[in-house]
Amino acid sequence: MSDLLAVVLAAGKGTRMKSTLPKVLHQIGGKPMVQHVLDAAHMAGAKEKVVIVGFGAECVEATLGKQAEFVVQKEQLGTGHAVMQARDFLQEFDGTVMVLCGDTPLLKGETLERLYAEHKAANASATVLTARMENPTGYGRVVRDASGRVLKIVEQKDANSRELAVNEINTGIYCFERAALFEALQNTNCDNMQGEYYLTDVIGILATSHAKVWAVGVDDFQETLGINSRMQLAEAEKIFRKRKLKELMDHGVTIMDIDSTFIDQEVSIGADTVIYPFTWIEGSTVIGDNCQIGPNSRIKNSKIGDCATLHFIYAHDCEVGDDAIVGPYVHLRPNTVLAKGVKIGNFVEVKNSQVGVGSKIPHLSYIGDTDMGEKVNIGSGTITVNYDGKNKNRTTIEDGAFIGCNTNLVAPVTVGKGAYVAAGSTITKNVPADALGVARSRQSNIEGWVTKK
Ligand code: UD1
Ligand code: MG
Repeated sequence: MSDLLAVVLAAGKGTRMKSTLPKVLHQIGGKPMVQHVLDAAHMAGAKEKVVIVGFGAECVEATLGKQAEFVVQKEQLGTGHAVMQARDFLQEFDGTVMVLCGDTPLLKGETLERLYAEHKAANASATVLTARMENPTGYGRVVRDASGRVLKIVEQKDANSRELAVNEINTGIYCFERAALFEALQNTNCDNMQGEYYLTDVIGILATSHAKVWAVGVDDFQETLGINSRMQLAEAEKIFRKRKLKELMDHGVTIMDIDSTFIDQEVSIGADTVIYPFTWIEGSTVIGDNCQIGPNSRIKNSKIGDCATLHFIYAHDCEVGDDAIVGPYVHLRPNTVLAKGVKIGNFVEVKNSQVGVGSKIPHLSYIGDTDMGEKVNIGSGTITVNYDGKNKNRTTIEDGAFIGCNTNLVAPVTVGKGAYVAAGSTITKNVPADALGVARSRQSNIEGWVTKK
């Protein structure tokens, strides 16, 4: 059993974001920032998570749901005050409290794992994760004595010139033994430049009382970047995206242009799949091996099999089978399931439909609310007339049926197995298996009409 619990500070408004959305819900890699932090804490072994909420509390709670407990900080009186809100909640807990901020989405689980391991190994009361920065402006500075022992953390606004010259900063991430944390917090006050209860003061209080205070350095300071503005959000997105693409490339995916490829955190892609430029792959999308994806494609929450080709498409909440060829200029809408070897081409929209093995919808068609069998051929310009103004009705097209060009299939209607529909028909009655359905007026030619005119 892990004796590690995470407390995530997420009560602040994030004034500089200029947003009605709480800062920690802004997304990086298609996932709210605070979710990245919870996932990293989970990876490090924190089974239980407590999120301190304030601004937009209901919104944060609704987004995170059951994966965390929530404690409300009514007024944002500082980071120390925020952690203090969890005191009653943690009364029974006898272990290590890892404190994190909800606005550090690039944080890696391995880093937190190492922080916790070193905190335990050092048998410390408090361990702070620190970083060396070329420009430490804005961050709290880690002040050590001549022997290197951590004495305290001083905030930028409270620091003297000697302290300001320190380039080791407080990342705002810590491990504390619960009892020591809350005892020290009781002794903090807001006697500082910002008039806030600082969590950072706990470090100085513990060091003065000869409790063991330890520090762990983070290898890459980018990991702990705190996001306060839209510009920083965009910068973090860029760092995140590169990291995700590298991970995919390390697993055998070819990314042709890393600057124009956007892939969300949860996406998985199989080996030898090639991603062409200007492609977005989002949400919970899973793509198999040996696919050709893009250029100019957007795929969201979809499952793509092996050896599929998808170019110039927009697909969301749908499934594409092995060996399917989709595009160019195709819109696959929710609940579309394309079986193995299906071919969908130029300017076709498919919605809420099953398309059976080897069926073809090659040009200019709308197929909605349809159950299509295997080896069906849909002629150019075929429309399933699925909406009567009130209800959506289904169309059934059985195995091997052949639908001529420019056909309207007025649902509910069935075209039976192996049946043909003549080009230009508006079909309102079922076409039996092996029949030819014709629903258009016969052509008549008027001889010599032009010369008589
Ligand atoms: C804090 C640290 C600073 C560190 C920096 C790292 C303190 C006093 N300072 O400063 O040493 O270098 O983080 O990024 O801790 N929050 C609440 N309730 C509050 C105040 C803040 O939940 O009353 C939350 C915020 O939403 C945010 C986090 O705590 O997620 C950090 O607060 P912020 O105001 O950004 O602290 P910094 O000034 O960045
Ligand atoms: Mg901050």
